[in-house]
Amino acid sequence: MIGQLVFKGMKKLNRIQSIVFETAYNTNENLLICAPTGAGKTNIAMLTVLHEIRQNMQPGGVIRKDQFKIVYVAPMKALAAEMTNYFSKRLEPLGIAVKELTGDMQLTKGEILRTQEMSPWSNAPPGLRNPFSKTYGTFTRGVSVNA
Ligand SMILES: Nc1ncnc2c1ncn2[C@@H]1O[C@H](COP(=O)(O)OP(=O)(O)OP(=O)(O)O)[C@@H](O)[C@H]1O
Ligand SMILES: [Mg+2]
Repeated sequence: MIGQLVFKGMKKLNRIQSIVFETAYNTNENLLICAPTGAGKTNIAMLTVLHEIRQNMQPGGVIRKDQFKIVYVAPMKALAAEMTNYFSKRLEPLGIAVKELTGDMQLTKGEILRTQEMSPWSNAPPGLRNPFSKTYGTFTRGVSVNA
């Protein structure tokens, strides 16, 4: 189970995570989560990330990395760096590449093609701010915003 690899060290989902689990992990529904700081919202975002990854997984467990991109938008530059670090560490066992993309940073086309998850800073210049812009190619499907 990919969840066990990614949530290593965590025994179980907490109460709010359990309530939204079905929708976050098993459907393409939009979610708006309002919960206090420290409530575990980041791992709810992670559940939606895992849902997208699973949708691109072949029966043998092979992930079709060329088939999808996940964009995680952070409201502050420091947060984009922190989130890139977190998702990168957690998703490493799956071989998923996570990159930070901010207004003062350029990823080459090759780097974008080799990346499955990006954490752009939402104050980036307009061309980079829109996760559906050409910069990301046509693979962008899952978008998660954490404010
Ligand atoms: N199911 C869980 N079991 C154990 N620890 C957890 C679980 N879910 C989250 N945590 C831990 O709880 C802490 C707070 O979680 P998190 O940072 O995701 O909260 P948040 O809701 O995103 O808060 P903020 O609003 O500050 O961003 C983190 O250290 C995280 O690793
Ligand atoms: Mg958070």
